[in-house]
This record gives sequence, C-alpha cells and structure tokens, in this order.
Amino acid sequence: MPGKTLREEVKEIQAQLAKLQRRLETLEGREEAPAARIRTYIDDFDDLIGGGIPRGHVCLLSGPSGAMKTSIALNLLRRNSENGIHVLYISLEETKESLQETMRSLGLSEDSDFIVDVGRLRTEHGDIEETGDWIGVLKDFITKRKRYRKVDLLVIDSLTGLYSLAELDDPHRELFHFFAFLRNLGITSLFIFDQGEEGRYPNSEDSIADGLFHVGFHCLREGSVGLKLRCAKLRHTEHSMDYHELRFENGRFSVRPLSSSSL
Ligand SMILES: Nc1ncnc2c1ncn2[C@@H]1O[C@H](COP(=O)(O)OP(=O)(O)OP(=O)(O)O)[C@@H](O)[C@H]1O
Ligand SMILES: [Mg+2]
Repeated sequence: MPGKTLREEVKEIQAQLAKLQRRLETLEGREEAPAARIRTYIDDFDDLIGGGIPRGHVCLLSGPSGAMKTSIALNLLRRNSENGIHVLYISLEETKESLQETMRSLGLSEDSDFIVDVGRLRTEHGDIEETGDWIGVLKDFITKRKRYRKVDLLVIDSLTGLYSLAELDDPHRELFHFFAFLRNLGITSLFIFDQGEEGRYPNSEDSIADGLFHVGFHCLREGSVGLKLRCAKLRHTEHSMDYHELRFENGRFSVRPLSSSSL
C-alpha cells in the first residue's frame, strides 16, 4: 500500500482539528443548548419535579429555622456553578464568613466568590440607610453583575430578611414587580422564606411565585426528628406533591419516601 500523500495527511489533520473544535465548543457550552431545567442537586428529587426547576422561574424555598434551607441553597448553587452555570447568592441575614463556615461543614469547595452579603451591599450603596430602597439596591446590583459576569441562577436569603430591611409599603405589589424584573432578565431565582407554619404566606407570596418548595421537620419515632421536603407548586410541571424524607449524607442531599415508621 502506498503511503498517504501530504495532501491526504493535511486533510486528515484538518478533520481531526474540526472535531476537537466541536468538542471544545460543546464543553464550553457554546453549541450545546442550555438544559431547560436547573437541577436541585438533591438526589432523586429532580425526578419528582420533571428534572429540576424550569429556567427563568422565580421560586420560594420555605421552612422553619434550622431546617437546612441555607444549606440546600448553597449546595444547589455550588454544584450548578461547577457545571458552568453562573450563580449568585445574596445573603441579607448571615455574613459571608458564616456562609463559608456552612460550606465547609457541608464539604463544599471553598470558592465563595458567588456570595455577596448585606455588608457589601451597604458599602457599595452608601445612601441605602436614607432611602431604604433595598429592592432598588438589589435590582441595581443584579443588573451590574449580569453585565460583567452573567447571572443564570440567583438565591436571595432571605425574603424575610428583605422585609425586615426594606419595610415595604405594599409587599405583594413590590414583590410582584421584583419577580417580573427577574423573569425578564431570565434569571432562575430562589427566595428563601422563613416560615414557622407551613402554608402561611402573609403577603400571598405563594400566588406570585412560579414554584414553592417546603422543607420541614418530621418525627421519625418518638424523640427522633428528621427533615422532610416537598414541592407544593411548580408551574409547567407535572410533579409529586408528597413529602419525602430529606437526608444529608456523605456530602450529598437526597430524598426518599417517608418511611412507614414515621409518625
Ligand atoms: N454537615 C452537616 N450535616 C448535617 N446537618 C448539618 C450539617 N451542618 C449543619 N447541619 C444542620 O443544619 C442546621 C442549620 O442549617 P441552615 O443554616 O442551612 O438552616 P436554615 O434553615 O437556613 O436556618 P436559619 O433559619 O437559621 O437560616 C443546623 O442546625 C444543623 O442541624
Ligand atoms: Mg438560613
């Protein structure tokens, strides 16, 4: 067999280069259409909600104090960011240092560039104490951040904290416009909502959100308490509304059906 001509070798190399280029573009997400849903990174939960949160939805994650709402949200953002999604966590209650400590405790990598706390917002918006326009500050910060870094996925921790800071005249109306602003930017958003009693939304926040997730406590057996999670609403999705047992083990969140031994 005669050897390949120089022309054939060049053609072969060019074909291989084109193939590598396509692979690189796919890896960089330039060619690949972004997934229509954002994964929660709670094992087996995404299957119950049609694969994740539809992109562009504004959702609430509500539940009582200590029910791992912040932990779930940090895990969701960190894991998504590892998969090329641009994320932003705005903390209106806890400091960045406290959230870094939570990330360490969850075994998440310590890169916390995506976390912005209320102290930083106060520093960057010197007039906020006089105006009290916290929604304006958030809109401004998100718009600027999106301009130079992109924001696909946002968590605001928490809506309750925003209410304490902002003293809104008409919370339902102002929230309605804030949610519309986020949808217009195409940012998938999760607001954490401190809720002592399930289903209690003082300003009918549930009716303007696209999705509602509720985390709570349940009694495993006398004296032993576990966590439970359910999706109460998710627009454009056929989903389970049942509570599932929520676990955090070996660095991963997961759900499974509530065991029959649960009280
Ligand atoms: N590594 C861990 N494994 C299991 N549970 C943990 C771990 N780290 C923290 N926790 C539990 O998570 C709880 C706090 O989690 P987190 O701050 O996410 O809750 P939260 O619902 O956001 O609370 P808050 O209402 O105070 O904001 C702790 O009280 C502890 O019980
Ligand atoms: Mg919290």
